[in-house]
Amino acid sequence: MTTATATTLDLADIQGDILRAYGNAYASTTYVFVRIGDATAGGAWLAGLADQITNAEPWADGKPGSHLNVALTCAGLTALGLPDDVIGSFSAEFRAGMAGRAERLGDIGRNAPDRWDDGLGTGAAHVLVTVNALDEPHLGRALADLRAEVARHGHEIVVEQAAHTLPGSREHFGFADGFAQPAIEGATDDRAAGGGVPLRGGRWRPFAPGEFILGYPDEDTTLDPERRLPSAPTDPLGRNGTYMVWRKLHQDVAAFRDTISTAARHFEDGDEAKLRAKVVGRWENGSPLVTHPDAPATDFDGAAAGANDFRYHGPDQHGAKCPIGAHVRRSNPRDSIGWEGRLTYRHRIIRRGMPYGDPLPVGAADDGEERGLVFACFNASISRQFEAIQVQWLNDGNVFGLGHDADFLMGGIAEGGSMVVQGECPFYLGPQKPFVTVRGGEYLFVPGIAALRAIATWPR
Ligand code: HEM
Repeated sequence: MTTATATTLDLADIQGDILRAYGNAYASTTYVFVRIGDATAGGAWLAGLADQITNAEPWADGKPGSHLNVALTCAGLTALGLPDDVIGSFSAEFRAGMAGRAERLGDIGRNAPDRWDDGLGTGAAHVLVTVNALDEPHLGRALADLRAEVARHGHEIVVEQAAHTLPGSREHFGFADGFAQPAIEGATDDRAAGGGVPLRGGRWRPFAPGEFILGYPDEDTTLDPERRLPSAPTDPLGRNGTYMVWRKLHQDVAAFRDTISTAARHFEDGDEAKLRAKVVGRWENGSPLVTHPDAPATDFDGAAAGANDFRYHGPDQHGAKCPIGAHVRRSNPRDSIGWEGRLTYRHRIIRRGMPYGDPLPVGAADDGEERGLVFACFNASISRQFEAIQVQWLNDGNVFGLGHDADFLMGGIAEGGSMVVQGECPFYLGPQKPFVTVRGGEYLFVPGIAALRAIATWPR
């Protein structure tokens, strides 16, 4: 039995992209999925990469021009020659992989793995190298070095996905994105108000770090008289790592805009911006509807302390301000389903998404170009955290009293969904063409840096 000893995070051993939002600090991110040619050569390549990846400590000499982070699929651990008993110590959903969980995730029909981009969900993607860069020259150099090293070791790049920040840190539908994040003890305690665990009397506390980083006490540990640590892979792999979900989501921007502008003709004097906000639960600049129901706060800063300090049940139990089915209300319902948030707080994720593709100019018809969101998130349990949000809250409305209504922003499981906007005069958004389609994805393990070295030098 493993018991909790210390709660100080070992920042020098935790990969930097988990606890730090590089996406907002860097203009470009490229995700490079590599297929390992041979286990020994794979280990040699990873040993070289381990010296280059960033950790979670503050930068002493300012922001580097570019840097790397590394994650592995289960097929990758097998290709690197890890023994079955070690692989068996990883979670069942990680071992099944995202494609293996497709039915559960609702990835059927247009979202099914057999329609995914080549190289994703087939077992060909072994290692994900995430390259963040300040600008094109830094990105070009980092990618050229990476491609050369991959080729020199006899491996193959199976997917290379470029992504980049859009002006104002917006996603393609036009909303500010990525600022509402969980507050973690020992890392982001100052974000507890609105980001932590809701307590009685409007108070909050940061999450136990084991919700997001393996090898530390989680919320169960804090309640357990024996202070047992949550399940994690065999040491040293179970220390300072986490699981990552990587999902490429195509966004049909023209369909989203057309649907809302057509529907808005019958909504509150044609208020299109407000109807868009009702679908997301925030105005385009990020102001929450529950605190700003009539108009956005002009100076809203999602990163400011307390910016996300709100609840739903007291101020807006019936969804008159922020609809019960709005994207942010269903993806983090807080106390929306009662019990002061105790039914929801174990299902939080650290989101690190980045848009890909060029924006569709305002007023333009669909140009058939690929654009969307690379949705990336980190959590200690993919099934309890990411999958619970996707399956129980986004794909299904039952827990919110919304029947089978799926998240209107994402679209239904196979086809588009519908949505009721609650209010004095409820408004119905009828069935629509889906706005978001899955192009592929992988479940990954993000090892601590010492664990990555252990994988690289595993006796083969
Ligand atoms: C193309 C797809 C998606 C778009 C355009 C999108 C857009 C947004 C936007 C605009 C916000 C509000 C900004 C913020 O809170 O940072 C948000 C919040 C959020 N989204 Fe999404 N999202 C997408 C997919 C997903 C998926 C697949 C999940 C999880 C399975 C998810 C989970 C969340 C969560 C947990 C929040 C934070 C809510 C809160 O803490 O209040 N999103 N999303």
